[in-house]
Amino acid sequence: MRSVVKIINVCGARPNFMKTAPLMRAYRAHQGLQPLIVHTGQHYDANMSELFFRQLQIPEPDINLGVGSASHAVQTAEIMARFEPVLLEHKPQWVVVVGDVNSTIACALVAAKLGIKVAHVEAGLRSFDRTMPEEINRLLTDAISDLLFVSEPSGLENLSREGIPDEKVHFVGNVMIDTLKANLEKAERSTILERMSLEPGGYNVVTLHRPNNVDDAAAFSRIADALQVIQDDLPTVFPMHPRTAQNLSRLGLAERFARMTRLHVVEPLGYLDFLKLMGKAAVVLTDSGGIQEETTILGVWCLTVRENTERPVTLTSGTNALVGSDPEKIVSAYRRCRSTQLTDPPMPEKWDGRAAERIAAVLAGRGLE
Ligand code: UD1
Repeated sequence: MRSVVKIINVCGARPNFMKTAPLMRAYRAHQGLQPLIVHTGQHYDANMSELFFRQLQIPEPDINLGVGSASHAVQTAEIMARFEPVLLEHKPQWVVVVGDVNSTIACALVAAKLGIKVAHVEAGLRSFDRTMPEEINRLLTDAISDLLFVSEPSGLENLSREGIPDEKVHFVGNVMIDTLKANLEKAERSTILERMSLEPGGYNVVTLHRPNNVDDAAAFSRIADALQVIQDDLPTVFPMHPRTAQNLSRLGLAERFARMTRLHVVEPLGYLDFLKLMGKAAVVLTDSGGIQEETTILGVWCLTVRENTERPVTLTSGTNALVGSDPEKIVSAYRRCRSTQLTDPPMPEKWDGRAAERIAAVLAGRGLE
């Protein structure tokens, strides 16, 4: 009898869904793989979750743990408590976790304790900044994973320095880029520019949600100083993460934002609208990880409002620059982008749209080891 390899795929927060989509498609090419999706419920608003499942044609989650929002400890603990019975019931050979969110470490830890093998997609990325919750999640998840799928060369160096044996590590490329490439044509048909009366190349895009940028009034208002100048230059669209939206009123910054009449704050967008918006922007200003990668492939300037990045290949082979949160630095980098023609940067190795295929092939070959 042919043996079946049962794989539980964990996703929970918005940036996970773009990574799960190509994996689910790639598994289909291998008869012996039987994937299930567990959604932890870390993100639950329709435009942070369901919309992505629909647009990216991800199968409905087989199980939703429905954890919702809480402090880091409570959220992580809730995910763990609710995930353990799922593993005991389904007894998969593999648990595949993606990215660096709380759902990633929570489920990896439960699996490892039950002796179920863990595969980490997007392993090895390091910002070397342990004040970031994601850095803790990355370090711990990699330490207990049996297979580590790496998206860029820095990941290989980091894992080797941390003593992870080479045979566990596979340089496969970037699953986020698989999704971008698979959806570019569809995104081209989005009418977001017409709906917002924007011209290609005639506007900027901003996204901010990192706690150290938006949870503190002083930090957030310094960034607002820069946004003031940037929106004076070009209309600027800011699809706002719910965490940022809550902070805007809590920190007393809502009026200040309302006075910036060319800064258009909108609800979080779906994948296709956002991809179109990003692809035609003059400059993208962000503190997201994934957007640094996506702008690299789209060939659009990206200014990252952070002091460090766990994705250094986007600085050397891409269009990304680190600008920190000092308004003067942000504005002078912005002006440089506006006056410099972007020439085609070299593309990062293996960001070719086939990362998920490589991952599925490894899982199919090694599933019962
Ligand atoms: C999480 C990830 C972060 C990732 C980001 C992408 C962790 C530690 N952080 O941050 O790495 O870059 O997702 O979006 O896992 N909220 C809603 N609706 C939702 C989800 C969240 O209103 O559907 C609000 C809640 O008030 C919640 C807050 O946003 O408390 C933060 O959500 P949470 O999942 O804790 O962290 P993110 O900031 O989204």
